[in-house]
Amino acid sequence: MESAATSHADLLPPPAHVAIIMDGNGRWAKARGLPRTAGHKRGAEAVRRTVECAREMGVSYLTLYAFSSENWKRPQGEVTDLMGLLRLYLRNEVRTLHKNGIRLKVIGDRSRLGADIVALIEESEAKTAGNAAMTLVLALSYGGRQEIVEAARRIAVQVAEGRLAPDQVDEAALSRNLFTEGMPDPDLIIRTSGEKRISNFLLWQCAYAELVFLDVLWPDFDREDLIGAIRDFHGRERRFGASGG
Ligand code: IPE
Ligand code: IPE
Ligand code: MG
Repeated sequence: MESAATSHADLLPPPAHVAIIMDGNGRWAKARGLPRTAGHKRGAEAVRRTVECAREMGVSYLTLYAFSSENWKRPQGEVTDLMGLLRLYLRNEVRTLHKNGIRLKVIGDRSRLGADIVALIEESEAKTAGNAAMTLVLALSYGGRQEIVEAARRIAVQVAEGRLAPDQVDEAALSRNLFTEGMPDPDLIIRTSGEKRISNFLLWQCAYAELVFLDVLWPDFDREDLIGAIRDFHGRERRFGASGG
């Protein structure tokens, strides 16, 4: 039976786009005297729970920050372990995603990922492309600044080739050239682990997102935490620069 705390009947409609900075796997493992990989493994289970819960609640877009551009600076062993978990996730979970009507989309710099992982991503995106229950966006090898630089470069090429006039370079043109083209901006960004920073996540897109920082470590994140964050979101007054009521 669902307790009052886990019921989400009163939360409709949920925010269209929820984005999560999944942080704290290492500290979760350290607190238990385990290797960091153990934390990442448990973190993958939290991903499963969260995807399922978000879909049940009717979230349209769920973006998960899984690996940043800067995470390449971690020790090679940890990067290898994280890539191994990613491979497992893509191999084993996509079937479930597909069965549940979820579309998978990956944002980030694919040129730095292994060829086999890129192939798995392309296969998974193609397989789930027609699904409409929810879009799961995985941010992999993703950095907000790099994304904006890449958009600027693409726009520069369009201008140089005469396909775009300089005065047509506006917010819409910039948005069109980001990885998130066609997606709504996140309404709610959650960061776990107690850190209160954005760490290069969705820098352009977060302009008017509501931010929720939770002390829970990512491997412990459960449906009650997601529901609590959405409850918090519903209590905020979003103004988008206009005067308050
Ligand atoms: C988040 O957990 C996972 C990734 C960034 C890949 P961390 O590995 O950053 O865990 P902490 O922050 O060291 O606890
Ligand atoms: C942000 O977490 C990146 C991901 C969750 C994938 P980090 O642990 O890398 O961020 P910092 O280093 O604490 O800012
Ligand atoms: Mg961290």
